[in-house]
Amino acid sequence: INITQALRELPKAELHLHIEGTLEPELALELAERNGVELPFRDLADLKAHYEFANLQSFLDLYYQLMAVLRTREDFTDLMLAYLKHAHEDGVRRAEIFFDPQVHMNNGLSYDLVLDGLLEGLRIGRERYGIEGGLIMCFLRDLPVESAEALIETAAPRASELLGVGLDSAEVGYPPELFKSVYARAAELGLHLVAHAGEEGPADYVLQALDVLHVERIDHGVNTADDPALVGRVADEGIALTVCPLSNRRLQVVQDVRELPIRAFMDAGVKVTVNSDDPAYFGGYIAANYEALAEAGIALPMLADIAANSLNATFASAQEKTAML
Ligand code: HPA
Ligand code: ZN
Repeated sequence: INITQALRELPKAELHLHIEGTLEPELALELAERNGVELPFRDLADLKAHYEFANLQSFLDLYYQLMAVLRTREDFTDLMLAYLKHAHEDGVRRAEIFFDPQVHMNNGLSYDLVLDGLLEGLRIGRERYGIEGGLIMCFLRDLPVESAEALIETAAPRASELLGVGLDSAEVGYPPELFKSVYARAAELGLHLVAHAGEEGPADYVLQALDVLHVERIDHGVNTADDPALVGRVADEGIALTVCPLSNRRLQVVQDVRELPIRAFMDAGVKVTVNSDDPAYFGGYIAANYEALAEAGIALPMLADIAANSLNATFASAQEKTAML
């Protein structure tokens, strides 16, 4: 049997996906046209020439620029549905999806418009594809902490419509501890907690995310490998890492997927999961990320364990998990 097909068919969860990172260049230009938004690209070929990234920041510059084309509730619904179609084709049973409201609000949109559009997409996707899903609202760590404090209060009245909160954007120089009070407030609102840490930043940021923010999963977390004691702790506490191989390669966190410490983490008992991060920018949806690991020499039984880890690391109830596994 064909490995590509086998990897697609593994029941899996997507735990690290930015919905704005699923905005394909074709859809970006279509929405720019539909919404009368001017972009500084002549055509699709010109836009596509901008997808080579030296690091996280060079990707973020394009990612934030293209987000300006998202203007209406329907745009967010369409974006979500386009993603869920790919997810369905790739064997995703449940998706816990990031969104970046601060960017949309800076673009003049209301929080409610963004949330309503995304929730409508999830509702239709649940019916159409049987994918369970939820939203994780992210704070941009490179904006002032006061902006995150304002956002959590904006989100508070509808907190029950979110699964949790996360922390993303430029990492180095913006340690998790800055967001201690924001995370305490999110916990008080009954939200699950995750944070990006150890992508470009040091293992110490992973430690801070655990000790200061009290997160339940670490997004990326690859630099945890630099601190063997921390690897042991992450394993002991059953903290899942949401690793994104194609992202790490495209943003030059590693030069080759083989450099990722996936096997070392698995051998140490860490709950590794594989995810797509920003698939429209990094060249593949979730099954392509599993396939990149297969090509890097990770055997199918370990990839099946990783898929099982992803379902177990969701914020679904025990009952929902049993139904998925
Ligand atoms: N890291 C940090 N911020 C992000 C990412 C990422 O991988 N994707 C979208 N925003
Ligand atoms: Zn990410």
